[in-house]
Amino acid sequence: MSILYTKNLTKKFGGLTAVDGVNFQVEQGELRALIGPNGAGKSTFLAMLSGRLKPTDGEIFFMGENITTLPSHAISRKGIATTFQITSIFPGMTVYENIWVSANSKRGSLNPLVHHSNLRDVEEKTEEILKLIDLKDKSDVLASNLSYGDQRLLEIGIALATDPELLLLDEPVAGLSPKETREMSGVIESLAGERTIILVEHDMDVVMNLAEKVTVFDSGKVIAEGTPEEISHDKEVIKAYLGEE
Ligand SMILES: Nc1ncnc2c1ncn2[C@@H]1O[C@H](COP(=O)(O)OP(=O)(O)O)[C@@H](O)[C@H]1O
Ligand SMILES: [Mg+2]
Repeated sequence: MSILYTKNLTKKFGGLTAVDGVNFQVEQGELRALIGPNGAGKSTFLAMLSGRLKPTDGEIFFMGENITTLPSHAISRKGIATTFQITSIFPGMTVYENIWVSANSKRGSLNPLVHHSNLRDVEEKTEEILKLIDLKDKSDVLASNLSYGDQRLLEIGIALATDPELLLLDEPVAGLSPKETREMSGVIESLAGERTIILVEHDMDVVMNLAEKVTVFDSGKVIAEGTPEEISHDKEVIKAYLGEE
């Protein structure tokens, strides 16, 4: 079953068509990469899936439901999490507190009179996430004191703490050192399978190692889709993207 699909999804900014009639689908548990040259419409596409931008035309279905017109907070509650806002981090709180607050928010209220066992669940969830993102030994570090790479991992942790079915990652290794890139790739790999992940990525090595299937955007349109192996031999893709580097 497709956990998410789009029909003719389109976004225009004035006279510019950033996303142009995209029919896309992703299966539950898949790790899908979206690639394409700068300005191809990848970030705009993701922003529509999360509800941050509203489509000009077309529809988005998530777990069988038409979510096209839902506001972003409602889409997030349905189970789509994104990380492109580093603003999701509270710099004055520790790593642990950042994850805890996000896990706690899943319960729907900040009421301090909640049942004790509920809070235990939040603590367990927080510990589990800290392990997943490999920041357990930095639990007590203030978020503002983390390296850039660790902040990006924390962002993913904050998103994961809401238990999303679908995680959207927009260039998670951009600006990271080679060592941080390897760490981030390892974390993303460990998340795959349990959740569905859509990963916009520029780093072809990362894409080739992680993705089961790759969708190639160019000028707002999907020009190819296939395994990393197929994509790397596709003539149109090489012309549009790989050849440019
Ligand atoms: N908020 C916006 N207003 C106007 N144009 C935009 C906006 N966001 C993106 N664009 C334009 O839409 C096109 C697609 O951009 P984007 O989705 O960011 O591409 P990508 O992520 O593939 O690099 C580009 O031409 C970009 O300049
Ligand atoms: Mg982008």
